[in-house]
Amino acid sequence: MLLRLGLAVVPTSLPRVHPAPIPLLQRTRSCLSRRRALLLPLSLPLSSSSAATMSAQPPPAPPVARKNPRELVEHGDARVDDYYWLRDDSRSDPAVLAHLRAENDYTAALMADTKQLEDEIFAEIRGRIKEDDIDAPLRKGQYYYYERTLTGKEYAQHCRRLVPTDGPVTVHDVMPTGPDAPAEHIILDENVKAEGHDYYSIATFKVSPSGKLVAYAEDTKGDEIYTVFVIDAESGEYVGRPLKGITCDIEWAGDDNLVYITMDNILRPDKVWIHKLGSDQSDDICLYHEKDDTFSLGLHASESKKYLFVESGSKNTSFIFYLDISSQGKELVVLTPRVYGIDTTASHRGNHFYITRRSEEFYNSELVACPLDNVSETTVLLPHRESVKIQDVQLFENHIAVYERENGLPKVTVYRLPATGESVGQLHGGRAIDFVDPAYAVEPEPSQFNSNVVRYYYSSMRTPPSVFDYDMDTGVSILKKINTVLGGFDASNYVTERKWAAASDGTQIPMSILYRKDMVNLDGSDPMLLYGYGSYEICIDPTFRGSRFSLVDRGFIYVIAHIRGGGEMGRKWYEDGKLLKKKNTFTDFISCAEHLIENKYCTKEKLCINGRSAGGLLMGAVLNMRPDLFKAAVAGVPFVDVLTTMLDPTIPLTTAEWEEWGDPRKEEYYYYMKSYSPVDNVKAQQYPHILVTAGLNDPRVMYSEPAKFVARLRELKTDENLLLFKCELGAGHFSKSGRFEKLREDAFTYAFILKALGMTPGLEASSL
Ligand SMILES: *[C@@H]1O[C@H](CO)[C@@H](O)[C@H](O)[C@H]1NC(C)=O
Ligand SMILES: *[C@@H]1O[C@H](CO)[C@@H](O)[C@H](O)[C@H]1NC(C)=O
Repeated sequence: MLLRLGLAVVPTSLPRVHPAPIPLLQRTRSCLSRRRALLLPLSLPLSSSSAATMSAQPPPAPPVARKNPRELVEHGDARVDDYYWLRDDSRSDPAVLAHLRAENDYTAALMADTKQLEDEIFAEIRGRIKEDDIDAPLRKGQYYYYERTLTGKEYAQHCRRLVPTDGPVTVHDVMPTGPDAPAEHIILDENVKAEGHDYYSIATFKVSPSGKLVAYAEDTKGDEIYTVFVIDAESGEYVGRPLKGITCDIEWAGDDNLVYITMDNILRPDKVWIHKLGSDQSDDICLYHEKDDTFSLGLHASESKKYLFVESGSKNTSFIFYLDISSQGKELVVLTPRVYGIDTTASHRGNHFYITRRSEEFYNSELVACPLDNVSETTVLLPHRESVKIQDVQLFENHIAVYERENGLPKVTVYRLPATGESVGQLHGGRAIDFVDPAYAVEPEPSQFNSNVVRYYYSSMRTPPSVFDYDMDTGVSILKKINTVLGGFDASNYVTERKWAAASDGTQIPMSILYRKDMVNLDGSDPMLLYGYGSYEICIDPTFRGSRFSLVDRGFIYVIAHIRGGGEMGRKWYEDGKLLKKKNTFTDFISCAEHLIENKYCTKEKLCINGRSAGGLLMGAVLNMRPDLFKAAVAGVPFVDVLTTMLDPTIPLTTAEWEEWGDPRKEEYYYYMKSYSPVDNVKAQQYPHILVTAGLNDPRVMYSEPAKFVARLRELKTDENLLLFKCELGAGHFSKSGRFEKLREDAFTYAFILKALGMTPGLEASSL
């Protein structure tokens, strides 16, 4: 149940996620989280010729997309889509590619005068990274496992070292590294594997129970369709043939079987398989096929490593099967039944399954346990609470760590459990872990089941990513690793705060704020970047991000608006920002902007906004609703053609997301969606400066959505502001894959923002 990352439901297919703040080291994390941190290296054709022509000649005219009207009729309502032709599923239509290239050339030409600034910002951002580093080693079996990064290298090495002396894992445990320590062994070097690929991402890296083998899932395009390889952990040699066309959801079932999930033709994870090592993929056994196209499958191993859980979930309902690994089982057994509106997650310890269960009545989830031999005999361990949501639980031999949310902040409470043979009852006397910042982020990390140590990941907007080991018996927390931030970074220069804005219906919306004490006036004269997301019950907690300081050290105030549709304030927060309440997400964001202006954190003239993916939908919606409120907007891989996409079940995610956005084949949803869908609501009005990005191979938000949005804006807008579209032709949803090249996107975005605000040294604002 670990590593669900704020998704109360199973990791359903591919939500349109914003990128999580990218840890400096790629940590071994769940598929989903790793998927948030991908990308490919085909950069813009920033040809020197277009850059050179720029200074001497007037700026080129923006590309005009040809019109080819197509009538889309639903419920007797006709819409004319002039730019439907921009959608080419094969991504090879010469006319489409020529249009995207023309947009890229135009962007490059208009940004040519800030290229130097962009390079400087990139150098600054990169200069904050300690390039040779290792993450906190995790002791597992006979080894410490960790990832190492090297100076100048884009990717990580996966390493291990023998544990010299056996003994219990404690918070004081340190991996020996001296001359007498066991030698480091590099199991896999991603830099070597990535050679010859424009894009390279390893999403899952799983060591077999004996420690002898490793299975990893590789994507060389950014399309999130993986090939799974098994290698010998010592020799690195391939074992058997690779498995093709897989999701990155894989688990070992013993040392000789792999369980994995495949997708249907709309990339919905629909089948779970078991593969015997050495046999042919075509001989693999399908354990379950989920035929309902609103459901997607997920997979995880219990912390005890005795069971695998297969979850089938929609946005509102999920049910679970288990596979008993210890008995070499090859059949799934129902653990929780499929009941509409009931959402469950499971784990195991001793004689019990531990289950979190959410229903309409118990919307923030309750925690129950049942004996292995009678799953209907449930005992409530933690009852439902209106103000506290249970987000995740992590089990240990003697303890349970419960990841919760209260008042917009994460919390972790640990309880001692009765001995494994005994029955369990309601939990009492929990101990909460203390955190220092007024707003922060905490996530579970893989920990050792048979220890008293829970490992967690902590950061805030001013505290670099940190890994702590917490002794659940004594309450002692030991910092195992804090990322070094170079370039003169000093956390004490910065302030981070939590503020609240009143929404139009009076609801209080939390915001996280970061600024540099000696750089701001707080009198309305400071520039601001306001970030928002607000979908899928995902929590955009205030994590650390090194690149952000390139704006903050230039005097920007950086704010995250924790608007409805996200999960920051519990399940209701999500439900109040989806389906027929989706517009709360947009109006909350507008209320936050207005509150910040009223309270002199900024003015309209200096307010920039940013959102990606479903947060890009937010950008599109608020730009149409309140174009006067913002100076500049950056919409990354934006989901802006909501109505047309949600009417088309052949597009990935559509069917799985009828419960998120609504099913527009029903009239009520159709008209509601039509009233906010950004492409359908572009008007002849003045818009701020806008930068839109896309990835040609993106399976989550098709590149054509932003392309159409830009074409509509070009056609209708009445202002002279910048409108730029940058489509990465060799990447997917997460832009480039290398850790440095990925940061180019931040540098480019910040250069755009500084240019839009006239904050580019030596550049006249009029040259915009
Ligand atoms: C989710 O389930 C509840 C029943 O528990 C129901 O009232 C609600 O309408 C469902 N939501 C969706 C989107 O189907
Ligand atoms: C399982 O538990 C349920 C609920 O407590 C009970 O009614 C049922 O008899 C139990 N079944 C067995 C086989 O013990």
